Amino acid sequence: MLNIDHYFDAPTWIKLKDFAKTQETPFVMINLDSIKKKYQKLTKYFPMAKIYYAVKANPAIEIIRLLHELGSCFDIASIYELEKVLSVGTHPDRISFGNTIKKIKDIRNFYEKGIRLFATDSEEDLRNIAQEAPGSKVYVRILMTEGSETSDWSLSRKFGCHPEMATELLILAQELGLNPYGVSFHVGSQQRDIGVWDSALSKVEFMFHRLSQEGINLKMINLGGGFPAHYLQKTHKVSTYAKEILKFLRDDFGDKLPEIILEPGRSLVAESGIIVTEVILVSRKAHNDFYRWVYTDIGKFSGMIETLEEAIRYPLHCDKTGESEEVIIAGPTCDSMDILYEHNRYALPLNLQPGDRLYWFATGAYTTSYSSVEFNGFPPLKAYYL
Ligand SMILES: Cc1ncc(COP(=O)(O)O)c(C=O)c1O
Repeated sequence: MLNIDHYFDAPTWIKLKDFAKTQETPFVMINLDSIKKKYQKLTKYFPMAKIYYAVKANPAIEIIRLLHELGSCFDIASIYELEKVLSVGTHPDRISFGNTIKKIKDIRNFYEKGIRLFATDSEEDLRNIAQEAPGSKVYVRILMTEGSETSDWSLSRKFGCHPEMATELLILAQELGLNPYGVSFHVGSQQRDIGVWDSALSKVEFMFHRLSQEGINLKMINLGGGFPAHYLQKTHKVSTYAKEILKFLRDDFGDKLPEIILEPGRSLVAESGIIVTEVILVSRKAHNDFYRWVYTDIGKFSGMIETLEEAIRYPLHCDKTGESEEVIIAGPTCDSMDILYEHNRYALPLNLQPGDRLYWFATGAYTTSYSSVEFNGFPPLKAYYL
């Protein structure tokens, strides 16, 4: 049974529900106050860190504006995100170009707009930065080999380089006239094992030490995202993450901590969202089939792509009560991969009918931005910011 109190107090839930009644499904409602509270909690538990919101998690202008007003910095992946963040008046020194894969002309574009902080993980990209963004601060992302089994959305293979190569890149950065500023890593999104930060930090500490022997004193560690949202699978609270990570930092760096950056995405915005959907059809594939199939008007292509391999399991609420049975849940499109949950089944009432509404909690992150434009003619997921 879903505990709605975990996400919203009673008046907020009533307000959201009343609003939902006035709209055609499917859509997502984002409660901005919930994001504000998450941001305040994060800054309370990590008082020494600068927060760079990972805009990719939800690039809505309403969220960017709110976080800008709260003093957040921004981790940006493209020139399009950059335009949005600058449009609310964010100063360029609160922006990091965090994507290690970038066109030369985009580096130039960022530099011309005043951005002076760049991530990299390859010599080719580093040389492009030196050429197009001279004198900028660079940090190198290291490859994470640990943590992919304990995170629900792994980011390990595509990004980062071996710490030895990262060390060489920082030395080269200095030679190229850049400012070798720090090291970053991402432990994998929805990382449930806090210990993965420990192993990453010991590699970072080794790099700090090794580079100091070369006369390079790094200034910053970017601990990435990976902090969890409250889905169905159990995780620790953010306060526990903070306590443990601070301990790891002190063990490695003592009292003289470098500048610490966090890049939260999911943990800031996921719990603010509820996707509201409607049942289209309930059926069985054979008279004696064990499970009913419930088809809803949202699927993998309209915002629920993180159900790929059933990686993210969203909490589900249905107003109907009564005797329930496990069901398979699928989306509305003519693609057989458009099945949300087949192995991790949800219990839904036996009297469930077309037109009944389903409320998917913790859907504020990686839903709107991943929703396709016109697959099977369906429009992208509508979003309301309340
Ligand atoms: C560079 C970078 N930082 C931060 C994030 C946000 O991660 P999360 O949503 O797990 O907090 C991502 C996610 O892809 C990322 O690529």
